[in-house]
This record gives sequence, C-alpha cells and structure tokens, in this order.
Amino acid sequence: MDIDALIEQRYSANHFDATRHVDDVTLTELLRLATLAPSAFNAQNRRFVVASSVKAKERLLRHANGQDKVVHAAATVVVVGRLAPHATLAAALQPSVDAGVIDADLQATLVHYADAMYRDQPQNQRDEAIRSASLSAMTLMLAAQGAGLVSCPMIGFDAAGVHREFGLGNDEIPVMLVAIGHAAAGNWPQKPRLPLADVLAWQ
Ligand SMILES: Cc1cc2nc3c(=O)[nH]c(=O)nc-3n(C[C@H](O)[C@H](O)[C@H](O)COP(=O)(O)O)c2cc1C
Repeated sequence: MDIDALIEQRYSANHFDATRHVDDVTLTELLRLATLAPSAFNAQNRRFVVASSVKAKERLLRHANGQDKVVHAAATVVVVGRLAPHATLAAALQPSVDAGVIDADLQATLVHYADAMYRDQPQNQRDEAIRSASLSAMTLMLAAQGAGLVSCPMIGFDAAGVHREFGLGNDEIPVMLVAIGHAAAGNWPQKPRLPLADVLAWQ
C-alpha cells in the first residue's frame, strides 16, 4: 500500500477484535519502524513500553479512564518521552559516528548545542519529549496500518498512574497510549477534516 493510501485509510479504532492476537515478531517490527521517526539532534528521546499480556493490559486499564480498548487491542503501547535529551545525546549519536555518518567533532558540537538548549530548561525538555514521542507514535500507527492492523492514539489516561504502574523513571513521561490490533465491527471511518483552506496559509 502506498503512503497516500495508508494516510487516507488510517482511522482511530474504538473496537478491536479481542480474539485476534498479533505475534511478538510483528509487534517488534512495528516498533522498529517507529524508532525510525525523526527526533531533534537524533536524540531519540522516547521509548516504548508494550502491554501485550492480559495481565499487563489489565494493569493499564486501571489508569485508562475505563477505555477498555486497551485490553481488547492485541497490544497497547505506552509511548514514553524522555526528558534531558542532552544527557544521553552522545550515546544516541555514537552509532552515527561508528557508521561514519558524522564524526566525533560534530558529535561533540551537537552535544554542546543540545546542552545549551535543554539543560535546566524543563519546558524545552518536556516539549521535546512530547514531540519525539508523538512523531514515533504516528509512525507506529502508520506502520500498523501498513501491516493490515488498526490503531488508536489515546491521551485519556492517568499519567501519574501509568508512570507508577509501569515504573517509569523520574526523567520520563507517558506521552501517549497507542492501542494496536485487528479491527472489530462498528468502528467509525476516519473522521472528516476541516476544509484545507481553513487551515492553510501560503506566505
Ligand atoms: C493526542 C491524541 C489523543 C487521543 N486520545 C484519545 C482517547 O483517549 N480515546 C479515544 O478513543 N480516542 C482518542 N484519540 C483519537 C481522536 O479522537 C481521533 O484521532 C480523532 O477523532 C480523529 O479521528 P480519526 O483518527 O479516526 O480520523 C486521540 C487522538 C490524539 C491525536
């Protein structure tokens, strides 16, 4: 399926077929694709906590405002944003140095700029964590669509509860849940959007 079709056909699913599983190999590949989303400085300041067992999904449901699609879906992914990207940037860029894409001097320069941008700047850190996690979440949803699955992004959850339940770190925030699985009957199609002219400005 080409990218236009993936974008046109994706919708936020409310009903998942709880009888149909998605194997770990498939889920792992979707998550690998999600890591290909861009992030500022290539800091990759997000990670994924996958609730795929019945037990883990039920633990998640306790904090999901009663949205039982988190258990009906084959898996629900907590997309976690990481604060303090400057602190881990050197390590995040090391594979790029090893592959010869950038050299060590540029790596050090980027760390320097990231330090200036994020150190002691909680708003910048939070914004970046949400940006990076959101781009990965969207990539994950498109990858799921490409695999013939459906998904639903969710912000209707208790962030403090999810943070505690899944042992997230002090420098981490649960940005979004993404439920993934096979569709059941009764889903709305993708909702109509405002006319493009209402949201588009050419300068
Ligand atoms: C950040 C974000 C949070 C959302 N949270 C929820 C949610 O908690 N529960 C839900 O059923 N849908 C949730 N949605 C889905 C939206 O309602 C949906 O994307 C929107 O209505 C457009 O529908 P469509 O994706 O099918 O076109 C969320 C979407 C986004 C982007």
